[in-house]
Amino acid sequence: MEKEILGLFKACTLEVEDVMDGLETTSLRKTTKMGADGTPTSELDSIVEKVAIDHLKENCEYNILSEEYGLLKGRDKGSIIMDPIDGTSNALSGIPFYSISLAFTPDKFSDTSVGYVKNLPLGREYHAIKGKGSYLDGERLPRLPPNKELNFSVYMGKKAHPDSVRIADLARRTRSLGSASLEMCMVAEGIFDMYYIVTVNKERSLRITDIIASTLILREAGGEVYQSRWIPIDMPLDVSARSDVMAIRDGSVRKVIE
Ligand code: IPD
Ligand code: CA
Repeated sequence: MEKEILGLFKACTLEVEDVMDGLETTSLRKTTKMGADGTPTSELDSIVEKVAIDHLKENCEYNILSEEYGLLKGRDKGSIIMDPIDGTSNALSGIPFYSISLAFTPDKFSDTSVGYVKNLPLGREYHAIKGKGSYLDGERLPRLPPNKELNFSVYMGKKAHPDSVRIADLARRTRSLGSASLEMCMVAEGIFDMYYIVTVNKERSLRITDIIASTLILREAGGEVYQSRWIPIDMPLDVSARSDVMAIRDGSVRKVIE
């Protein structure tokens, strides 16, 4: 069943890529509506989400929880949780770093059994099936120790919690790239040792749609994903909920930042 769902996610992504091939992403900034997550939906988000939801609706009967649309009830037990574009602001600015993120859970966040994230501009494809490891372009990701010189991805900007500056200073190099799902997959891949987003009042923190797929991918590669205060991440299946995230390669990184 998980393999079929993974096939569905790949086919859905191919349709999205087909449509995006003909789009000038930087000209689709106009807000079309307020999304179910409470933030504005751009024309780009609307076009891509429609293609993805239409494909999923035609090919399965699961619930679909999508970032802009919200919940679409299906007849079968289980939910697909999707962010059609994670990193919209990059896509609208012409920065080639954004993804599609798709996950399946039979019930709750902690039951997630399939995670799929594709870097759309580069075509790099990450996936995990619960208990079966994580893969990049079909190759299993090895469990690697942290880098000798730590590389962090730390969310920065005026909504970042002031402690983010202290965290950024602990690494040899720090970046802030603007697509949570991809940055977490890069922790799984060993490029980053940590992805960190802690914001003032959780205002710019993440929705389930941004992180559920990459959480499984990172955990299956040996990493750990926490909300604030080192509580393992858990979220309701609701696009209006927000959570801070600290995603690390392994427990040794936790010791560095505590
Ligand atoms: C955004 C990205 C970004 C994070 C923002 C999110 P979106 O998702 O994940 O990395 O810093 O908080 O809103 O809006 O492009 O799906
Ligand atoms: Ca999005």
